[in-house]
Amino acid sequence: MNEHLNEIITGHINSDAPLRDMKVLSGISAIGTIVKVLAPATVANLVCGFDVLGMCLNEPNDLMEIRLLDEKKVIIISADGYLLPLDPMQNTAGAPLVEMLHELPDNIGFEVTIHKKIKPGSGIGSSAASAAGAVVGANYLLNNFFSKQDLVRFAMFGEKVASGVKHADNIAPCIYGGITLIRSIHPLDIVPIPTPDLFVTIVHPQIEVRTSDARQILRKEVLLKDAIKQWGNIAGLVAGFMQNDLSLIGRSLEDVIIEPVRSILIPGFDEVKFKCKEAGALGGGISGSGPSVFMLSKDEPTARAVENVMKQIYDRIGLDYHTYVTTINKTGVRVEL
Ligand code: HSE
Repeated sequence: MNEHLNEIITGHINSDAPLRDMKVLSGISAIGTIVKVLAPATVANLVCGFDVLGMCLNEPNDLMEIRLLDEKKVIIISADGYLLPLDPMQNTAGAPLVEMLHELPDNIGFEVTIHKKIKPGSGIGSSAASAAGAVVGANYLLNNFFSKQDLVRFAMFGEKVASGVKHADNIAPCIYGGITLIRSIHPLDIVPIPTPDLFVTIVHPQIEVRTSDARQILRKEVLLKDAIKQWGNIAGLVAGFMQNDLSLIGRSLEDVIIEPVRSILIPGFDEVKFKCKEAGALGGGISGSGPSVFMLSKDEPTARAVENVMKQIYDRIGLDYHTYVTTINKTGVRVEL
């Protein structure tokens, strides 16, 4: 067993961790209480905003149940066919809860049952949904002891398990809902952006792209002329969302740095992008690190026409796929008793 977890289970709290005022914990749920959690998919990057922009979706969602325990431990139960790691430190839901336990008294722990509906390696925030769902559900049982920013801080440990790197562009929109800008992760500075009522079409070609691999292939330096285009687009996209300017949003959905490298991993990518825009999409691109591709549309008929274009292309290529037509989720993770 991982030494760090062992330390937690045996009840030692890292003396450097900020132990909070115990009085605040008086409103916590009874031991054994179970909450049901709906943890949504997310689209990270939003094309030009690598690691700094993300958007929450109404579908698909992971389903989770979190039970409050009276011992300092984390138990992971995988309720369906996915071979999720059951060692909490290797699990995207478990690692954030282990971090949370560092800042709680000894007689608290969590059991997490995960019904994975968002396929790992799909590019629509599967690992973030588990991580964010776990910490939001656990916090509900603790009478919302921690702030949303604390929850993002914990949940990023799940992303580190999944991809080797902490990033918050799936986690933050999953927890806050809507569209978020992550201005910085050291220190955390999350800015919720006003969210227009747009439709989102996703196609998930049934191949797996590991985020760690999709990060590995990126160039480490960018040309100044590309950087200028990219930050122009990021600023344009944020301004477009804030002003509900659909034309500006469409013009700004351009990525001259990451997409040219990663798109080679996605069969049919250029054709999907071109033909979906022809069908009326405002624009779109790789969802997170792929292989899913997303498109934004102003209304549902356009989003459905875009879905048909995606289906035709992957039927012709002969690659299995799954599509979603959904909207932007403005509330994020949902919890009910
Ligand atoms: N910003 C991350 C990446 C998101 O593109 O690698 C991964 O979902």
